[in-house]
Amino acid sequence: MAAGTQPVLVQAIGLQVAHGDQVVLHGLDFDIRAGEVLVILGASGCGKSSLLRDLVGLGRPHAGQVLLDGQDLHAASAAQGRQLRQRFGVMFQAGALWSALSVGQNLMLPLRLLSGLPPAAQARQARLKLALVGLDGSFDLMPAQLSGGMRKRAALARALVLDPPLLYLDEPGSGLDPLNAARLDELVLQLRQHLGTTVVLVTHDIQSALAVADRVLFLDEDTRTMTALDSPARLLSHGPAAVRRFLHRGQEALA
Ligand SMILES: Nc1ncnc2c1ncn2[C@@H]1O[C@H](COP(=O)(O)OP(=O)(O)OP(=O)(O)O)[C@@H](O)[C@H]1O
Ligand SMILES: [Mg+2]
Repeated sequence: MAAGTQPVLVQAIGLQVAHGDQVVLHGLDFDIRAGEVLVILGASGCGKSSLLRDLVGLGRPHAGQVLLDGQDLHAASAAQGRQLRQRFGVMFQAGALWSALSVGQNLMLPLRLLSGLPPAAQARQARLKLALVGLDGSFDLMPAQLSGGMRKRAALARALVLDPPLLYLDEPGSGLDPLNAARLDELVLQLRQHLGTTVVLVTHDIQSALAVADRVLFLDEDTRTMTALDSPARLLSHGPAAVRRFLHRGQEALA
């Protein structure tokens, strides 16, 4: 797709990501465009999840800004912040379902807090999203009764439950067998195609990145900054040498 012509949803400007005084990433300037699948790719430990925390407002950037629809996510009032956060869904790396709540209740929680829908409609919406990720029969199960892969899909369903136009997914395929990981990639592409959802997908899985990305933002673990932002095809043919090496190594590992 011609992502370059799409409106900008999110802008990261001069972003520095840190834990305390320890800066893990600096010099990040990029945008997220409506309708694209943007993959944030980099070696394990390079700071992808830390960046995601700042992008969704859970962490506060050490420096710089994150603008969502032109509004500074970290300078917003509490009420504005709540409103901005309703525009995106997040699936964290660990899945993070509430273990004391059933799967259905986990999905209904954001609806109860934010949607204003009556309980029957909340349950209907939750069941719909569970069906979308292939978990039709899991509404009344507890998270502990799910396999790791099912838990991932339930977390994805919860991220989708408010029909957000923007979805942040942190390593959705990790810990899954190749078939289920591929199914998840397929689901991401379907969301984009059928609902026009903008997807930001964090991964260190090169194969998955190349399969789903419109653009790849590459984070370099040595220089601790972004070293490329382009389509997979252009990165493979014309990207910086270190990025091409990283991508080709990943492809060779599977050959
Ligand atoms: N809560 C925290 N407090 C202090 N340092 C942290 C914290 N979380 C992560 N870090 C450090 O920040 C760096 C980046 O970690 P992060 O989890 O963002 O990497 P990642 O790219 O998501 O890795 P992976 O691919 O393994 O998920 C690491 O050096 C890590 O030790
Ligand atoms: Mg991570």
